[in-house]
Amino acid sequence: MSDAPPRMMSGFGNHFSTEAVAGALPVGRNSPQRVPYGLYAEQLSGTAFTAPRAENRRSWLYRMRPAAAHPPFAPYDAAALLRSAPFDEVPPSPNRVRWNPLPLPADDVDFIDSLTSYAGNGDVAAGQGCAVHLYAATASMIDRAFVCADGEMLIVPQQGALRIVTELGVIDVAPLQIALIPRGVRFRVELIEGAARGYVCENYGAPFRLPDLGPIGANGLANPRDFEAPVAAYEDVERPFALIQKFMGRLWITMLDHSPFDVVAWHGNLTPLRYDLTRFNTINTVSFDHPDPSIFTVLTSPSETPGTANIDFVIFPPRWMVAEDTFRPPWFHRNVMSELMGLIHGEYDAKAGGFAPGGASLHNGMAGHGPDRASYDKAIAADLAPQRIVDTMAFMFESRMVLRPTRWAMESPLLQPDYDECWSGFRKAQLPPMNETP
Ligand SMILES: [Fe+2]
Repeated sequence: MSDAPPRMMSGFGNHFSTEAVAGALPVGRNSPQRVPYGLYAEQLSGTAFTAPRAENRRSWLYRMRPAAAHPPFAPYDAAALLRSAPFDEVPPSPNRVRWNPLPLPADDVDFIDSLTSYAGNGDVAAGQGCAVHLYAATASMIDRAFVCADGEMLIVPQQGALRIVTELGVIDVAPLQIALIPRGVRFRVELIEGAARGYVCENYGAPFRLPDLGPIGANGLANPRDFEAPVAAYEDVERPFALIQKFMGRLWITMLDHSPFDVVAWHGNLTPLRYDLTRFNTINTVSFDHPDPSIFTVLTSPSETPGTANIDFVIFPPRWMVAEDTFRPPWFHRNVMSELMGLIHGEYDAKAGGFAPGGASLHNGMAGHGPDRASYDKAIAADLAPQRIVDTMAFMFESRMVLRPTRWAMESPLLQPDYDECWSGFRKAQLPPMNETP
């Protein structure tokens, strides 16, 4: 693989065909009797074989050795703060919580070993729910690969660009971009420009897809062509490689005598993807009120209940605010869904302070939340001329199930003890005297 920016192919859910060596990709057959160059044909299924065609995800990989060629896995004990469902270390409380940014470690820690779980829900074995982790890495993964059998991984960089080397090719991803690594795809994370920090949603449920657009029409929100898949790229390297697997909530390790990134050609629609959040076509009101924040959904993992997500990925990008006679920031609300927010860049328009890039907040089901007092006072006094919100990129992982924090998250010094204070001191509404009301 070269150091040049990797080439990418455009489209969400497309059936791509790509080969790093001319003639490596079989034509007309998925698994011919003899694959060109003696490569091995291997199907990687991201959905059940019989999933409806519109939801079916699979790719055929043509590789130098079968992925099956590995010794047994043994338990791997690093990544001490990585957790998995069921999240039952501490009882979930109804309290709203917010964390200061995760600090970067002083020593060399790579992406995998730095994964720190904040919260999660559901059941890995049942294929329901998700986990939210942060990473704060100071070293590249060298001769190490990771594969998550428990779910796909949505990586949201907040600081520092990453080169993600996968079996299907290479993705460079920087803050304001996201990467989506399918369940079961082996990858390693290299640091392009020094230390890196960001968020990860490990989705145990149905693979993320683009939301339906309904009356919005055929265009808008995240457009399919702005998702990018890598072209095939491979390493022909023979030296010891550690392969670390997450399976049923635990990490396991085995050693290979070669690079697992030896896929020379592939075709299919199960592929790592990159998306640039600045390409999101943000839609909002041009009259009054503002729509529910679902209007900002980038990707959704549906549950069995229509319209009720296992997990949604929602962003709050720079945008014009033009609503007339409207309280423009996010309103006060209580939500049957549970919301974990992060901040990639700038400030979030519902909070005057305390929510820093690299930080996080959690508002679980039915917890009252909304603008803090300073943001509220400013919004009701504001001149409602058209205004552009700039220098911001917040996001939300929103789930139908309560996001249960880990013990670390609830005992960490990053936890802000005074978060509730931001909603204290609101003036009582002034009603007319009782005898004057009808
Ligand atoms: Fe909310």
